[in-house]
Amino acid sequence: MNLINGNELAQQVRTEITDTINKMVAEGKQRPGLALLLVGENPASQVYVNSKDKDCKEVGMYSEIRRMPAESTQDEIIAVIKEWNADEKIHGMIVQLPLPKHVNEFEVISTIHPEKDVDGFHPINAGRLLIGMPCFVSCTPAGVVEMIKRYKIETKGKHVVVVGRSNIVGKPMANLMYQKNEYANAVVTICHTGAKDITQYTRQADILIVAVGVPLLIKKEDVKPGAVVIDVGMNRIIDETKKSGYRLVGDVDFDDVKDVCSFITPVPGGVGPMTRAMLLHNTLLSATKGIY
Ligand code: GUN
Repeated sequence: MNLINGNELAQQVRTEITDTINKMVAEGKQRPGLALLLVGENPASQVYVNSKDKDCKEVGMYSEIRRMPAESTQDEIIAVIKEWNADEKIHGMIVQLPLPKHVNEFEVISTIHPEKDVDGFHPINAGRLLIGMPCFVSCTPAGVVEMIKRYKIETKGKHVVVVGRSNIVGKPMANLMYQKNEYANAVVTICHTGAKDITQYTRQADILIVAVGVPLLIKKEDVKPGAVVIDVGMNRIIDETKKSGYRLVGDVDFDDVKDVCSFITPVPGGVGPMTRAMLLHNTLLSATKGIY
């Protein structure tokens, strides 16, 4: 088994980004800027937004966080997005999801200018991804592709099985992997809660990508010997031996699966750091050559 070290790869990406920003600033160009919108007090979202803000500052980007109360109206949220759409300091923005239930996520995301949609959630970017046009790609699937590239994992003609069909991970992940390019060109199966028995699909995977949010779902019986296993899950489970009272686990039972597969991502320290690094990558891209 080979471990895919997400921390190490993310550090490489951040170093490359820092170097580029230093050069840009030395040439008198504007610093790339990211704006982060957090509505409400979801504890996980607060952690994510603070980490993204810290990442920006570490690579020399401008960043700002706008915190709004959970009772904010949809119009109030949209007004902030419109303000950032027109702000030249801001090259990218993200609206941390989930939003409070009374707000329509699709309506809000659709207000972000597609050229500043560094999360890749706007229907224009999602649609462009589907038909193979240049676009912002959602950060988690983009991070998985970057891992595959940097570990030189062969994808052409391989069978990729994606477990999960979310708009943030499963769907864009599948779309990326069957595109006709050097880092994809795979045959893709998506399975989800509608499947009667996911094992019959997952066992066929040369590359198994799991993003369902079910702790330790995937066991060794679900994995073909020699497969590459990418675990996108990030779940808290109770662990009284820990000071915090919990520990983080993926959707894959790492200890059970590790001796069956050829490559595996750990949780934490696998996909998570790459997701954060790709947000920086997308913001830099927006500030430099752009997508459109
Ligand atoms: N919530 C969970 N993942 C994400 C993400 O990648 N971006 C945003 N904006 N919200 C999320």
